[in-house]
Amino acid sequence: MRTQVAIIGGGPAGMLLSEILHQAGIDSVVLEQRSREYVLGRIRAGVLEQGSVDVLRAAGLGARMDREGHPHDGAAIVWAGRSTFFIDCWKYVGRRFLTYGQTNIQEDLFAAADRRGAQLLCEATDVMPMDVTGARPHVTFKRNGASHRLDCDFIAGCDGYHGVSRSVIPASVLRVFEKVYPFGWLGILSETPPQPHLTYANHPRGFALASMRNPMLSRYYVQVSLADRIEDWPDERFWTELKARYPDDIARTIVTGPSVEKSIAPLRSFVAEPMRHGRLFLAGDAAHIVPPTGAKGLNLAISDVFYLSRALRAHYGERRDDLLDRYSETALRRVWGAVRFSWWLTNLLHRFPDMGDFEQRAQEGELDYLASSVHAQASVAEQYAGMPFE
Ligand code: APR
Ligand code: PHB
Repeated sequence: MRTQVAIIGGGPAGMLLSEILHQAGIDSVVLEQRSREYVLGRIRAGVLEQGSVDVLRAAGLGARMDREGHPHDGAAIVWAGRSTFFIDCWKYVGRRFLTYGQTNIQEDLFAAADRRGAQLLCEATDVMPMDVTGARPHVTFKRNGASHRLDCDFIAGCDGYHGVSRSVIPASVLRVFEKVYPFGWLGILSETPPQPHLTYANHPRGFALASMRNPMLSRYYVQVSLADRIEDWPDERFWTELKARYPDDIARTIVTGPSVEKSIAPLRSFVAEPMRHGRLFLAGDAAHIVPPTGAKGLNLAISDVFYLSRALRAHYGERRDDLLDRYSETALRRVWGAVRFSWWLTNLLHRFPDMGDFEQRAQEGELDYLASSVHAQASVAEQYAGMPFE
């Protein structure tokens, strides 16, 4: 088998890259280790920056997103039982964002791939990038019991945090930056009308977030201890705890119902540098993880793909490699901006186990400052809305 770009991983990064390359006349094969049902069943992020919306639209993936996605001017923050302060992206930077589930994007990507008869090979196991710095880059894998070799010009490692691609970069080259937070988020989906705004809550009992997927599907989170298990959180306890973390006027309007999904995710920040090694290019979670505070994970996967597809188009279309050579540097600049912002917002909104009275007052002082300074609000709004692409 031979293709121009071998793509490892069929998540949003890998599938979107394949779609954009196809539109530029560049051939690719996607190797995904899981089944299509498994990939489509994952409940993930749900907030798209304007820049991400533009990339998806340009890739022909806008029809359902524009119909079903819900535009927001900004997001609210509440704390210490106080009235909300609104991160007004529309007012300060003239950009809105969209709530539209990653699960839907994944469906749209598979549908588009089917329409063009894309080479998407699911349930490919033992996938391994080979000879990435040599003359004959290729990927070996097994499928339906047979061994295969896929020759290519480039390999895109879009296989997420637990993927194999990053591991072929030698330890002497790879530099990893990591921060593990001492808590997790317990998230539920419920078929109830959501709050009108995304609402982040800082409370002495811990962080909470009200989000949404559509007018009859709510997504809520509460900060929990890493020792907690799903069994510790029957729906009744979840709703009581969630409401306790919001001011009364908001808590009263939260509509409860049975959860249709419930999971606990630990929070971490992680960046691997460089994002290129020879003919291997990392994109998305394979190269970086952010805590979900600020909803940057999916948006970073999309911006990596934007930069990488542009660089590959320049290689094949104009025979220039300067964009490929600068890919890691360009992508990492945006990555670090979002990593810093997510880390800062996580620190601002959560209760850390070792927090003393001093840290608590300092956190409240920062929230007070944010609520009273248009300069501070404009800075947060600019980053929340997403920095423009280079
Ligand atoms: N071989 C083939 N495929 C693999 C391998 C492997 N060794 N390891 C992982 N994969 C697949 C996974 O099954 C998954 O479908 O790679 C895909 C990676 O997809 P994601 O984890 O969704 O990562 P990415 O496409 O970068 O999207 C990032 O996902 O986790 C969220 O917050 C994150 O929203 C962001 C988005
Ligand atoms: C979500 O809707 O899942 C979501 C929204 C905002 C975040 C994180 C997650 O910051």
